[in-house]
Amino acid sequence: MDYETPLFFHVMGYAADADGDVIDMVSGNPDWEPPRALRTALHEYADLEPDQFQYPPSAGLRELRGEVADRRGVDPSQVVITNGAGEANYLAMARALERNVGDEIVMTDPVYPYYPGKTTMLGGTQRFVETAPDGSLDPADVRDVASEDTAAIIVNTPNNPTGAVYPESTIRALVEIAEDNDALLIADEVYDHFDLSGTFTSALTVDSSNRIVTNAFSKSMAITGFRVGYAIFPPELVENAKSRHMLVNVAGSRPSQYAVAHALRETGPDYYEANRDLLRDRVTTFTSALEAAGAEYTRPDGSFYVMARFSGYPGTLANVERLIDEAGVAGMPGEAFGSARPDWIRFALVTPRVETAANRLATYFE
Ligand SMILES: Cc1ncc(COP(=O)(O)O)c(C=O)c1O
Repeated sequence: MDYETPLFFHVMGYAADADGDVIDMVSGNPDWEPPRALRTALHEYADLEPDQFQYPPSAGLRELRGEVADRRGVDPSQVVITNGAGEANYLAMARALERNVGDEIVMTDPVYPYYPGKTTMLGGTQRFVETAPDGSLDPADVRDVASEDTAAIIVNTPNNPTGAVYPESTIRALVEIAEDNDALLIADEVYDHFDLSGTFTSALTVDSSNRIVTNAFSKSMAITGFRVGYAIFPPELVENAKSRHMLVNVAGSRPSQYAVAHALRETGPDYYEANRDLLRDRVTTFTSALEAAGAEYTRPDGSFYVMARFSGYPGTLANVERLIDEAGVAGMPGEAFGSARPDWIRFALVTPRVETAANRLATYFE
């Protein structure tokens, strides 16, 4: 699985170097505006005193940790501000493995490829649980693979790449399985503001000392380049995670955290709702064209990815490259996401040209 991180970059590079006009639906970079308050705060920041250009507290700016803690109903001491959900997941997985109560990390297949990558990097072992064709996860399957060797179960809801949103019963069951096996449930909720179904349940609603929630502002505020996320740990697990964060990073980026703290305070629900509306429209546009092209596809309940399968055209890297060259649409090969969906291609709905992309696909596969 080590090669899968470069695969993202390989496909993006291939699309960028292609001769013709290519619509990039590879990455998860939002193309919409960040909150207005974020831009205002950045402008303000440029004129602050030099002391504001120095190290912030390692665990994050106090005002940002406070905002997060208030919103998530936890104590600020449980919050570590991280370099995106990426670092939050790393801290959570490392914390689970250093408890020395197992070296296995249970994850779904299809999987967000950084989970198996980080597991290898941390010396752990991956255990995969296949999800149903609609992306739903049967907790009984997780229970079957969980054992005293399990250090953590890591899940992502709303899900990349399937678009599934796990119901509350699944989240409760997963926390229980973690507790029963002296393991940790790590819930990556980075797409929580892109719950298009209204059914999302945060793992924070299940009180337990065996669960860690990770998140970021990368997607919700359309700022993947700012690198601000967070992890919420149970009180007894947080100190080691703060030490690891400090030893790896010293601290996070102060201007980014300042801007996010301001944006959090000053941005109302309308901002997030408008982005969900935009995505709902894109999902409809894109899936209608896939329907017309006779493709199979997933209709996401959350996140902003659609998986599609074209008859006689498996989603291999070679076919994805051919689609870039011949149809002018770039997606991610299904094989990047584990072994469950090699025939599929994932398309990220992060371009205003979703309709053109859909028409190109429909024409190409006619
Ligand atoms: C499921 C999931 N987790 C984490 C990340 C990384 O988030 P961040 O950019 O905040 O590190 C992504 C980015 O695509 C993601 O899809």
